[in-house]
Amino acid sequence: MSNPNTKLTVTTDGDGKSLQLPLMTGTIGPQVADLRKLYDSLGVFTFDPGYGSTASCQSHITYIDGDAGVLLYRGYPIEQLAEKSSFLEVAYLLMNGELPNAAEKEEFDLGVMRHTMIHEQLRSFYNGFRRDAHPMAVMCGVVGAMSAFYHDTLDFKNPDHRRIATFRLIAKVPTIAAWAYKYSIGEPFMYPKNSLGYAENFLHMLNAVPAEDYKVNPVLARALDRIFILHADHEQNASTSTVRLAGSTGANPFACIAAGIASLWGPAHGGANEAVLKMLAEIGSVERIPDFIAKVKDKNSNARLMGFGHRVYKNYDPRAKIMQNTCHEVLKELGITDDPMLDMAMEMERIALSDDYFIQRKLYPNVDFYSGIILKAMGIPTSMFTVLFAVARTVGWVSQWREQVEDPGQRIGRPRQLYVGPALRDYVSLSDRG
Ligand code: CMC
Repeated sequence: MSNPNTKLTVTTDGDGKSLQLPLMTGTIGPQVADLRKLYDSLGVFTFDPGYGSTASCQSHITYIDGDAGVLLYRGYPIEQLAEKSSFLEVAYLLMNGELPNAAEKEEFDLGVMRHTMIHEQLRSFYNGFRRDAHPMAVMCGVVGAMSAFYHDTLDFKNPDHRRIATFRLIAKVPTIAAWAYKYSIGEPFMYPKNSLGYAENFLHMLNAVPAEDYKVNPVLARALDRIFILHADHEQNASTSTVRLAGSTGANPFACIAAGIASLWGPAHGGANEAVLKMLAEIGSVERIPDFIAKVKDKNSNARLMGFGHRVYKNYDPRAKIMQNTCHEVLKELGITDDPMLDMAMEMERIALSDDYFIQRKLYPNVDFYSGIILKAMGIPTSMFTVLFAVARTVGWVSQWREQVEDPGQRIGRPRQLYVGPALRDYVSLSDRG
C-alpha cells in the first residue's frame, strides 16, 4: 500500500533532475521505495546484486524480521506452529491464508494423500540414472519430468489446473524423493500408504521393505513433521525467487518447482545441512575445533562455518532454536546419550557465539546447523538431507507460485544490468587479428 505522505526523493547530480518515489508500507517491516518510474523519469537503473535492498514482489505469505529473529507464516509465529500444528495444516495455511476448520482440514489432508502415487511410467524413468547419482540430481530430473506426465494440469491460467498441480506436487514429491533413495541403494520402491500421516508415510517409503513389517516410530515421525514445518517457507529466498522468476514467464508449475529444486541444491542454501555434517566429520573431534575456527576466520582461506550466518537473520535463526530442542528429543528417543557430532556442534556454537569475528558479523546458527544431526540420528543418509528440505519447501514454492500467477499485476521478471564490457567496436577479420 502506498502512503501519499511519505516519499523518497532521488536527485541526479549531473542535471539536478529529481523524482519523488512513493514509499510503500506493508503490514509490518521496513517501508519500500517504489522505483517503477525511476528509469522512465531519470534514465537510471538501481544496482543491487544479491538483492540485499530489493523487494522483488508483494506477498501475503511469510514475514521475517531478521534483526529480531522472527519468522511468521501468514502472521503465526513459527514457534507456535512447530509446537501445535502439523505439516499438512501448515501447508493449508500457507496456500490458503487461514488455518482450516475441521472439515476443511480433513478434505485437504485427503486431497493431498489421494495424490501420493506417481504415474507408473515414471518408475522406468529412474532406470536412466546412474545408481550413484546424487538424489538431488534425480529430484531435478524426475520433478521436471512431471510436466511430461501430467499434461492435464499444465495451464497456469486455469484455476483447476493450478489447484490440482499444487496437490500433485505436495503429494508426489515425497514419493519421488523416497524412490530416489531406494534406487540409490538398490532396494525395491515402496508405494505410499495413504492411511499414514505425511511425514509418517515418507519415513515408511524411505525405510520399509516389502519383505518385512515396518512400524514408523511416532516420535521420529513427529520430529520429521516439525522439521518439515520449519522448512516449509522462507519468503523470497534464492530457490523461491527462482520459482517465481520461472513462473513469471508462464512456465508450467512442475518446471518451476524443478527450477526451485536446482537452486536449493547449492551449499549456500539448502545444501548447507549436508555440508554441516561433512564439516563436522572433517573436523573429527572437539579438540580440533579451535583450529577449524581459526581457519574460518583466516581471510586467505575459503572455509566457512557451515550452518552459520544468514542473509536476513542477524540474530539467532528462530528455526535453529526449535531444531536444537528437537535434536535433544530425537537423541533421547533413540537412546543416544552421547553423540560426538552433537558435542562438536554445541562446542562450535559456544565458541562462535563468544568470538568477536562472529559477534561483529552477527553470525548465528541457522536452521541447517542442527537439522543434519537429527536426520543422521534418524538413520537418514547425508545425501538425502537437502532432498528432505526440498520436500518441505515444495509447499512454500507452490504457495508463492500461486500467489504470483494469481496476481493480476504480475509481469515477467526481467532485471537489468550495469554493463561493463567493451563499448561498440567493429568486427576484425581473422587475418587481421594479432
Ligand atoms: N562462516 C564464516 N564467515 C562467514 C559465514 C560463515 N558461515 N557467513 C558469512 N561470513 C562472513 C563473510 O566472510 C563476510 O565477512 P567479511 O565482511 O569479513 O568479508 C561476512 O560474514 C558477510 O558475509 P556474506 O557472504 O556477505 O553474507 P551473505 O548474506 O551474502 O551470505 C550465507 C549468507 C548464508 C550465504 C552465508 O552466511 C554462508 O555462506 N553461510 C554458510 C552456509 C549456510 O549455512 N547456508 C544456509 C543458510 S540457512 C538455510 C537456507 O536459507 O537455505
